[in-house]
Amino acid sequence: MAYETILVERHDRVGLIRLNRPQALNALNRQLITDLNAALDELEQDRSIGCLVLTGSEKAFAAGADIKEMQGFTYPGTYLDDFITSWERLSRTRKPVIAAVAGFALGGGCELAMMCDFILAADTAKFGQPEIKLGVMPGSGGTQRLTRFVGKSKAMEMCLTGRMMDAVEAERSGLVSRIIPAAELLDEALKVAKAIADMSLTVAMQTKESVNRSYETTLAEGIRFERRVFQAQFALADQKEGMAAFIGKRPANFER
Ligand code: CAA
Repeated sequence: MAYETILVERHDRVGLIRLNRPQALNALNRQLITDLNAALDELEQDRSIGCLVLTGSEKAFAAGADIKEMQGFTYPGTYLDDFITSWERLSRTRKPVIAAVAGFALGGGCELAMMCDFILAADTAKFGQPEIKLGVMPGSGGTQRLTRFVGKSKAMEMCLTGRMMDAVEAERSGLVSRIIPAAELLDEALKVAKAIADMSLTVAMQTKESVNRSYETTLAEGIRFERRVFQAQFALADQKEGMAAFIGKRPANFER
């Protein structure tokens, strides 16, 4: 399917979504979120896809919500239209999603990256929640997710000052999993995504669900959830295949 503001490619079992509004540094407007959500639906329904990569351009992952579009918004309008709730679709994606971030990931761009399962950052990446400079605050999870990633002190500083952090600081703070030279970012992200896509899709999705539980419940409840899912995995053909492949010293061939 063709989209106006994003490009969707399939690389083997990986679905690649590129944000594509170069004239606005991939600023997130209504059309882009509509396109992104439709692409997520499309790739989630496609059984041949095992992992997704979300990326932008060399200069910008995304420079935030589209300020030119938002400028005239009113309070009743944002409330009645439930502005921003539709952006959360990404965080409900059941298949694993990797954010490959080069350049600016600001405001809603940083928030979008944080909705992914992990962030691979180019050495050029810059993260920030500069909304306060516009007279608003982060509106798509920034005050909540950034705090969980980097802790209260740094999240508070970032949200109150609007300053950017570079890739090194982002890795040191736990916001990104790894830094990769910019020229290699996409290849590496696709390689990591392919490795995930070659696992059992059921187990990968259950693993994602279980890790995410750690944000939403107590440790004891999370451990109980993990144990039930782990025990149930012994009903999967993929468990038989994975363990037989190990013992037989051959690559596993999981169900597709
Ligand atoms: N919305 C709309 N347009 C944007 C944009 C945004 N968030 N960010 C950049 N652009 C546009 C610029 O207006 C400019 O367009 P024109 O050529 O038509 O003037 C074009 O993209 C290139 O931008 P710059 O000339 O500013 O590029 P730069 O390299 O000098 O600066 C930048 C880059 C530091 C990222 C700067 O563009 C910037 O500060 N952008 C805004 C960042 C921001 O405040 N983001 C938060 C938005 S609010 C939000 O996201 C709310 C939320 O929580 C959901």
